[in-house]
Amino acid sequence: MHHFNYSGGRLHCEGVNLDALAAEVGTPCYVYSSATLVRHAQVIAYAFREQSVLIAYSVKANGNLAVLATLAGQGCGADVVSGGELLRARKAGIPASKIVFSGVGKTAAEMALGLEQGIHQFNVESSGELRLLSAVASQLGKTALIALRVNPDVAAGGHPNISTGKSGDKFGVPWGEAEALYAEAARLPGIRAVGVDVHIGSQIGDLAPMRAAFEKVVGLALRLRKQGHDIRRIDVGGGLAIPYKEGDAPAPPSAYAAMISEVTAGHGFEVILEPGRVIAGNAGVLLTTVLYEKQAPDRTFLIVDAGMNDLIRPALYGAHHDIVPIAEPKPGQAHRAYDVVGPICESTDKFAAGRELPRVAAGDRLAFMSAGAYGAVLSSSYNARPLVPEVLVDGDRYEIVRRRPSFEELVGLEKVPEWLTTVA
Ligand code: LLP
Repeated sequence: MHHFNYSGGRLHCEGVNLDALAAEVGTPCYVYSSATLVRHAQVIAYAFREQSVLIAYSVKANGNLAVLATLAGQGCGADVVSGGELLRARKAGIPASKIVFSGVGKTAAEMALGLEQGIHQFNVESSGELRLLSAVASQLGKTALIALRVNPDVAAGGHPNISTGKSGDKFGVPWGEAEALYAEAARLPGIRAVGVDVHIGSQIGDLAPMRAAFEKVVGLALRLRKQGHDIRRIDVGGGLAIPYKEGDAPAPPSAYAAMISEVTAGHGFEVILEPGRVIAGNAGVLLTTVLYEKQAPDRTFLIVDAGMNDLIRPALYGAHHDIVPIAEPKPGQAHRAYDVVGPICESTDKFAAGRELPRVAAGDRLAFMSAGAYGAVLSSSYNARPLVPEVLVDGDRYEIVRRRPSFEELVGLEKVPEWLTTVA
């Protein structure tokens, strides 16, 4: 469900005509719908209304301050994986008490930041990290509340590049070592183990692997309680899939919530969720303009002004994004199969191959749908292309919430050493 629809012959985001917006802001640009973000946060909250739950939105999916502030307004917390994400969440108004800190490679400085801010929980992924966190916390005279992220050795079923819960993946503590590590945690100063954490991957539409993982995790939590650990929280990570194209029918939040309730019921756990894509994915689009149509012997290329540096998902995962013209196609309008490509000097700078689209021409504008998660956050300035603007729509109004940097800003962190500029 999202708020991008045709009205009066043009694609709109809520009440805003995206053709007019693109003319004003320029393309490429990302556009986010507040109403869609709010709706997704509310759907999840509603699905979990009968459970004690912390919805820690996964900042990595879309960390724009305006997006975070929108979700903060819905009572969301944050799942962060760096000091930078932690500071973003705080700056956007998310209280530290609703922040969980995940990630395999936390530095001592990031741990200190989390402890000073008083975050809800550290999700610890290795014995080395546990010991360093103990040392940092002890030095600061603080206690770190932790969950160990365990690797349940369950195949998530999605794309291998975004699957994280199999033995052999770099994520989590190996299943067989978890109990010994909890025993060590109990002996370490500055550490209090309060939960068990798991995250098996992303874009998972089938609840069966999640259920298998969560059942293992709840079993572990109950064994740990018997061993004297005060385990109160189960962090189930993120990973719920979204529909990217017609016919996709991933499990809905209601079924996900019912499954989690079934698996965790009766033990008094606080459930922590780390949803990313399911909140932000269908709340954003990337607008682009057709630069050229180029005819090759066996195919027609549509060269657009967005590149893989702006939206890398197709290049990185072979991901599908629907592509629609901003001008609504007329009934019976001719179609054509296009290879939609960007201007970057890489063969993987291809958004779609042989995609049937209504015939378009240079100057026409298109939207890449479902680009709200893992879009702008994964962009780069490769080929010296400035990061593209991000725009937040709210009803009939919109605001540029990240502006396009100038060329001077793009190169502003660099310098030419004096020895290269002085003539001998
Ligand atoms: N929690 C942890 C520990 C994670 O690693 C992730 C995502 C999430 C939560 C949020 O997962 P979500 O609800 O968004 O599925 N760039 C890839 C996705 C990478 C996911 C990384 N971790 C893509 O564009 O598909």
